Amino acid sequence: MTTLRETIRVSRPAAEAFNYIADFTTTQEWDSTARRASKLTQGPIGVGTCFLVNCKLPVGAVDLEYTVIEHRPPERIVLRGQCSLFTVEDTITLAPDGAKTRIDYEAKFEFSPLLRRTMFAIGPGMRKMGRESLEGLRAALDDAQPAPKPAESSVSGLASMASVARFSRLGYRRASPGFAPLSADIRERHILLTGATSGLGLATARDLAARGAQLTLVIRDAERGKRLRDELIADTGNPHIRIEVADLGLLAETEDLAKRLRKRGEPIDILINNAGALFPEHALTSEGYERSVALLLLSPWILTLGIKPLLAGRSDSRVINVVSGGMYTQRLSTQQLGSTSDEGYSGPVAYAQAKRALMIVTQAWAREWADEGITVNAMHPGWADTPGVRDSLPRFHRLTRGILRTPEEGADTIIWQAVSPEAGEISGQLLLDRQPQPFYLSGKTVEDELERQRLVQFLEPFRPVIRKARKRAVK
Ligand SMILES: NC(=O)c1ccc[n+]([C@@H]2O[C@H](COP(=O)([O-])OP(=O)(O)OC[C@H]3O[C@@H](n4cnc5c(N)ncnc54)[C@H](OP(=O)(O)O)[C@@H]3O)[C@@H](O)[C@H]2O)c1
Repeated sequence: MTTLRETIRVSRPAAEAFNYIADFTTTQEWDSTARRASKLTQGPIGVGTCFLVNCKLPVGAVDLEYTVIEHRPPERIVLRGQCSLFTVEDTITLAPDGAKTRIDYEAKFEFSPLLRRTMFAIGPGMRKMGRESLEGLRAALDDAQPAPKPAESSVSGLASMASVARFSRLGYRRASPGFAPLSADIRERHILLTGATSGLGLATARDLAARGAQLTLVIRDAERGKRLRDELIADTGNPHIRIEVADLGLLAETEDLAKRLRKRGEPIDILINNAGALFPEHALTSEGYERSVALLLLSPWILTLGIKPLLAGRSDSRVINVVSGGMYTQRLSTQQLGSTSDEGYSGPVAYAQAKRALMIVTQAWAREWADEGITVNAMHPGWADTPGVRDSLPRFHRLTRGILRTPEEGADTIIWQAVSPEAGEISGQLLLDRQPQPFYLSGKTVEDELERQRLVQFLEPFRPVIRKARKRAVK
């Protein structure tokens, strides 16, 4: 048997560190040998939970299947791992140590007879990897990350294939090795997410639920909402998941939703305006608005302003607007946004106009709300293979299928914006792969000040009226 032992100290409460480590999928963020990790079993993490970790070791790449055999939060977790070449028992103990938490990590290896004979050669390499992995864990739990810097210019001036190629999964693969671990504890954060039934929203909901966040998911079909809630609870053991039913294509329903949330009065830390669709055919909603404008612009406008009293007063509240790289093709046209005619209608243009407008609103709110501690950012996911893309852009989907991101890759920046402390230090930015991007790819798509003012005038009539709750007279 070969035993490796390492100790680190971190400035995090034991409960937070335990929570992060016990989810062994995080090994891919801190263990220098782990390349990919996934959870194989459903349910909350506890005794019997299994993980698959693909590791690159001196003996070659191996798939290690880990099972949690002891789970005593926040003090001790024991996992048994096995692959064709060896078995390993990892024991991690956590204990307060002054203002810090001491983490002792012990890994006991039992090698196959063949490998045992080569131990004299591979032993030093394994010890080095053990030390590096624990240093990785210390950094993941302790190191503050700098906030990303805004793009050098708001117009990239480089409408090149290279910048567009970054939208594909190649862009994600190039960027992601530089991503910092996401170890922040968000179990006390209340997150309101729209469009959680599919694609990016579903990937976001799954990830945030697994992190233990308190989620309110806005879904338009009550039955689907119930099924999703049950699925997320069964998968993660997180009971703090609530469904709110609203068709966000309808302004009255969006206002009602905001009213219900205000009435409940529960503060909201993060609002993610993700629900969306690209409508290939022209149609008006039953309220008489063109569908893209209603869903992609007026609805997030009404919902965000409607719940703003619940965002205000929190120490670090965030609004995340999911826009689209498609907006790069468009210069803001309020005339187009206000049109209900089907003449010359193009789904991608209507979509891009609404997203462009939401981007401009994002920048305006970021400026206006800076003193209230609310940050407002937009992100675009690149091109991700979601039901939305498959259904509304079948030709594009067929042509690009091989290079599309997974929904998880597309959702990564939404999750980073919601989870990482450093994302709370930026506002008014457009992000792709966790980095601020230029707002325009060509000077021709930059709107002028007059058009911005027209956008304000266009949106103002939709501002929700929020009556202050009357204070009860004190007798
Ligand atoms: N995938 C990409 O490559 C890509 C690229 C750029 C931007 N985006 C943006 O990313 C966001 C998510 O898109 P996705 O690709 O994940 O699409 P998706 O798979 O179609 O998911 C869209 C989500 O929005 C919800 N939604 C649509 N209309 C709604 C309505 N009227 N009321 C309430 N919810 C509604 C859908 O609910 P139902 O299940 O009830 O329909 C679904 O949960 C959108 O804002 C989209 O514009 C995506």
